[in-house]
Amino acid sequence: TVVVVDFGAQYAQLIARRVREANVFSVIVPHTASVEQILEHKPRAVILSGGPSSVHVEGAPQIDAALFDADVAVFGICYGFQAMAQALGGHVAATGQREYGRTATRATEPGTLFSGLDLPGAHAEFRTWMSHGDAVHAAPEGFTTLASTDGAPVAAFEHPERRLAGVQFHPEVLHTEHGQRILEAFLHDIAGCRADWTPANIVADSVASIRKEVGDSRVLCALSGGVDSAVAAALVQRAIGDQLTCVFVDHGLLREGEAEQVERDYVAATGVDLVVASVADQFLGHLAGVTDPEQKRKIIGREFIRTFEATTRQIADDRGIDFLAQGTLYPDVVESGVGEGAANIKSHHNVGGLPDDLQFKLIEPLRTLFKDEVRAVGRELGLPEEMVNRHPFPGPGLAIRIVGAVDAERLAILRRADAIARHELAASGLDGEVWQFPVVLLADVRSVGVQGDGRTYGHPIVLRPVTSEDAMTADWSRLPFDLLERISTRITNEVPEVNRVVLDVTSKPPGTIEWE
Ligand code: XMP
Repeated sequence: TVVVVDFGAQYAQLIARRVREANVFSVIVPHTASVEQILEHKPRAVILSGGPSSVHVEGAPQIDAALFDADVAVFGICYGFQAMAQALGGHVAATGQREYGRTATRATEPGTLFSGLDLPGAHAEFRTWMSHGDAVHAAPEGFTTLASTDGAPVAAFEHPERRLAGVQFHPEVLHTEHGQRILEAFLHDIAGCRADWTPANIVADSVASIRKEVGDSRVLCALSGGVDSAVAAALVQRAIGDQLTCVFVDHGLLREGEAEQVERDYVAATGVDLVVASVADQFLGHLAGVTDPEQKRKIIGREFIRTFEATTRQIADDRGIDFLAQGTLYPDVVESGVGEGAANIKSHHNVGGLPDDLQFKLIEPLRTLFKDEVRAVGRELGLPEEMVNRHPFPGPGLAIRIVGAVDAERLAILRRADAIARHELAASGLDGEVWQFPVVLLADVRSVGVQGDGRTYGHPIVLRPVTSEDAMTADWSRLPFDLLERISTRITNEVPEVNRVVLDVTSKPPGTIEWE
């Protein structure tokens, strides 16, 4: 295990992910964690993250120097590097000279950290990403200085015998050349971490711990068609087989092929015991004539909970259920403020609306995993590739991609257009470049067109491909014109009700990703 100490920058999660990309398990702890609390994780290494503070500001987060005598490897990054230098007796100067963004770093000595970099000779420069005001002017005694920049005389140092090292720049960001190699040199060559965090081992470990936790009890899991619940259920199934029952509420608002993917392909791949509640008619009945987006969401949320509750109660009565499995991911756990208790309250919330007399214990087999690891585990478990690679999709489904009232006919039109767009995007190999690709039917808008020999009066379809990191902000994807042309031509040829295809070129903000 590698413990990443979060000094309050946004970089701790990225560092933890990069460590795992080096096949080493990592956890994040807040900088308020004591040395004992850090050591409880039995870490082979500790990484001190960057942070917004200056070590000279009163109340700046400190590092207990006891960490450096705890027989554990330590790597300081940015603020962590400076705090480390100060704690070990080096000199951190408040220079007033700031270095932000792209900065040339000169390697003066390969040491262990830079030995694999293939730099062209001494004083070789490489591109790094920086963000600091103070600078280390003298390395602690016994440390070798490996690099400098214009603003930082000591930009990297190491003491391999004590298994201590640090860098002023951010090796975890992609803008830093050789960043991952430097991190791996620390992990493997200085700290001696083994590269055993692999999808196969993650599956084996989870299976063992689920078996231990669940014993011979029964577990329920709700499938949404999304990646997280699919992988969580598949792991539980791998561990305890028939003791798991899955529930899938088919509300009729999914895209083409998605319900079949869950009911047929997923079951074939995993062998789960699946209970399907086919309630499309019920949902459409309640949605009839409703055009207000928030009203649609309320109706769908309410009906979903009703259905899930009724189905769950039935299964619980028949089979006696003790556990509910959920696809909570590590970022949710970290962001909910760490601490097991806090995370449990939040995830129980996610279940939403289960009546008080239906009490389950929660199991969260993905709570140590990042999204890319969840996908890798899904592949390891043999889930269909389309499911593992799926973009996020909103709970209310296609209902909030029909601007206007929702009915079966409009859903069918949108489903065909959406299937074409998704198919062409995947065929172009650009799936991974796009965060989400909503396809929207403007059901109450008509425009004049000409198709074949006649005038048409059809509906427009809006293409809304976006790039994003987290859905909080987004930009419109610059998809190639020939791909857009293929999508447009196919939709207007193959979906007779649609005679116009338009592209949404709005970022978020001001536009949201979805149209409703
Ligand atoms: P917006 O449209 O607000 O969407 O930019 C941000 C992200 O949230 C998804 N989304 C939803 N997900 N229920 C959900 O489960 C909803 O009601 C909902 N509305 C939007 C959207 O797809 C995007 O990923």
